[in-house]
Amino acid sequence: MAAEFGRREFLKAAAAGAAGTAVATMLGGSVFASEEKAASAPEFAGKKKFAGIGSARNVTEDIYYVGASEKRTELFENVYPIPRGVAYNSYVILDEKTALIDTVDRSVTGQFFENLLGVLDGRELDYLVVNHMEPDHSSAITEVLVRYPNAKVVLTELAAAILNQFFATDIADRAIMVKEGDTLSLGKHTLTFVTAPMVHWPEVMMSYDDVSGALFSADAFGSFGALNGNLFADEVNFETEWLADARRYYCNIVGKYGKNVQDVLAKAATVDIKMLCPTHGPVWRENLGWILEKYDKWSSYTPEEDAVMVVYGSVYGGTESAANMVAAQLSQAGISNVSVFDVSKTHVSELIGEAFRVSHIVLASITYNMGIFTPMKNFLLDLEAHNLENRTFSLIESGSWSPIAARQMKEILDRIKGTRYVGETVTFLSSPSESTYDSLAALAQAVAGDLQGEAPAEEAVTEKGTVWKCKVCGYEYEGEELPEDYVCPVCGVGPDQFEKIS
Ligand code: FEO
Repeated sequence: MAAEFGRREFLKAAAAGAAGTAVATMLGGSVFASEEKAASAPEFAGKKKFAGIGSARNVTEDIYYVGASEKRTELFENVYPIPRGVAYNSYVILDEKTALIDTVDRSVTGQFFENLLGVLDGRELDYLVVNHMEPDHSSAITEVLVRYPNAKVVLTELAAAILNQFFATDIADRAIMVKEGDTLSLGKHTLTFVTAPMVHWPEVMMSYDDVSGALFSADAFGSFGALNGNLFADEVNFETEWLADARRYYCNIVGKYGKNVQDVLAKAATVDIKMLCPTHGPVWRENLGWILEKYDKWSSYTPEEDAVMVVYGSVYGGTESAANMVAAQLSQAGISNVSVFDVSKTHVSELIGEAFRVSHIVLASITYNMGIFTPMKNFLLDLEAHNLENRTFSLIESGSWSPIAARQMKEILDRIKGTRYVGETVTFLSSPSESTYDSLAALAQAVAGDLQGEAPAEEAVTEKGTVWKCKVCGYEYEGEELPEDYVCPVCGVGPDQFEKIS
């Protein structure tokens, strides 16, 4: 086998059987790392295709970015739309020893190996550091192991187990198992390993380089979005072009594990970090405090801004009108930071990201199948699943004969820690009437007052407990006692037509 061997030639040869081990490995077979096997393995490091280093870039003088971006995938994790693409970051440190930190998703292995070959420029790879085993960063591991049969794999015990689970790859003979605080000397550089469980998988660790001050942070500080050649956050207008996607990435991917992120931030505060090198999105080498502060807010479920999002679920436009009335009244009351979303038209990941940004959320839902409008219910359950805390909600419900969406929305919201309510729940039939308008204006005024610090932070919605059901239309009233002069807002009957159901 020729000593110099490009990726294409490698694949051709593999297909022809000259690199059977390689093929088996790439398709999920085992990599055997015994002396004997390693000695007989083909030398795949090969020659680089280009004179330069492909699309790799210097992070520092001797740390290189060898990751790659792509814009073909519609849904990241088959869930999240990524119209701006995504980057899978991987880094090489060239020292007396060479180290590769994480690999990439299978969608970009071609570009990745061109970059890796270019940067190594014929040198051996001594270490592969596996910070995170999720396949968007580990799919190229088996091919790396075949190409560089002498490379040792540095990872946690749990990462090794997951590697075997995904790729049937036993690396026992070439593994260096590490745990919290262990170090690896590359010569001038020493890497220190910091465990970061559930950021965002249990096996995750981060690697800190003492020379550059770079923290290779796995998914933390990552973002959706292809890099477009701009490796560093200071090479783009991050706040206008990237922040929304960085927030959406964090909140949807890692948001559930805020406590774990807080633990990592506490560890990070004890180290002199000069760069953040995540596995997605731009590298941070300036203004680290800005993104760290964002992470501190997101992970502690502190609203990023005093702001209101209005989310409506509407079929024939009545509830949409109500939502727009509230938004207009909020603006009229001096609240300019208002966003409005049609829950049916906005991907739930965007709603989750926005919910992490704002302090106040107004929900307006039609009653559908005697419950919450399906997309709205999905959004609320997703909020609960992501552990969002400490938000202030206001509720609007509609229905054409028995509006009950508000009570069911509240049932979900009450399970979310730190939920509070402001304003009287607004109920209307089919489309807003004159009196509905007044109620919506009052609700907007209550939200605005709460934001402006004029209203007491009190729960305006009646505490759930006893429910009284209208025997005529099915409307449900929550409260220990039904007021003597109560009139059903749906069908107009008095309290004698209500029965206590719980
Ligand atoms: Fe980007 Fe958790 O993988």
